[in-house]
Amino acid sequence: MKYKNIVVLTGAGISAESGLKTFRDNDGLWENHRVEDVATPQAFAANPELVYAFYNARRQQLLNGNVSPNAAHHALVALEKACEGQFLLVTQNVDNLHQQAGSQNMVAMHGELLKARCTHSQQIMDMHSTFDGQDRCHCCQPAKPLRPHIVWFGEMPLFMEQIVDAIWHADLFISIGTSGNVYPAAGFVNEAIQAGAHTVELNLESSPSQFAEKHQGRATVLVPDYVSAILAGKSQN
Ligand code: APR
Repeated sequence: MKYKNIVVLTGAGISAESGLKTFRDNDGLWENHRVEDVATPQAFAANPELVYAFYNARRQQLLNGNVSPNAAHHALVALEKACEGQFLLVTQNVDNLHQQAGSQNMVAMHGELLKARCTHSQQIMDMHSTFDGQDRCHCCQPAKPLRPHIVWFGEMPLFMEQIVDAIWHADLFISIGTSGNVYPAAGFVNEAIQAGAHTVELNLESSPSQFAEKHQGRATVLVPDYVSAILAGKSQN
């Protein structure tokens, strides 16, 4: 393969064909609330029940076991295996599908749906059930309430140092299924360009960001095709 160090950024679009709604489907509304008004520390402080209900609906989809990784998630596992340098998959998704597919070197920069966090100590724990509002941690005495282990609007994304370092060393940056609306992820492509990487967008629609290569279509088609092309040494650049 022509590329040595690869960073892949994914967003909700890669999981759409696994049956999970993207964030900006339904005009970004959930039961008439703007997602931006539910996924915030302020909303959790003012109305925790509403916030638990929002995430419970999403957790339930995963807990039902009806959602599984699709061809795009699997193609990224093949790309990681073929990469001879450094590979980092950065996902904005909280759905666990990359992990289920078998991606190894990856970070979930916006947290994970099936984890919870102590509101006091910030300790992170697996949580394979829905929130009932009474859930308490095991780390504090007295036990403290748990919150979703999700990076809300206004909070700092996770793993930023590792991500920025990987982009700085990348010669290929691929963005998949993200609308490019939410920073800092939306700005990663500019850092990749500054680092001298070749930049590629694979998305249903063209985002406002500049990429050297842009392909529009469904992730389950575009991603396996693109991965096959670069593994065969046939990418455009
Ligand atoms: N294949 C490829 N792309 C798709 C598909 C598909 N089958 N279906 C939808 N898309 C594209 C849409 O065209 C859109 O550009 O995926 C993108 C999804 O965009 P968003 O819903 O904005 O999701 P995302 O970019 O991941 O959101 C970023 O915003 O709400 C916050 O923290 C949340 O991580 C999320 C962040």
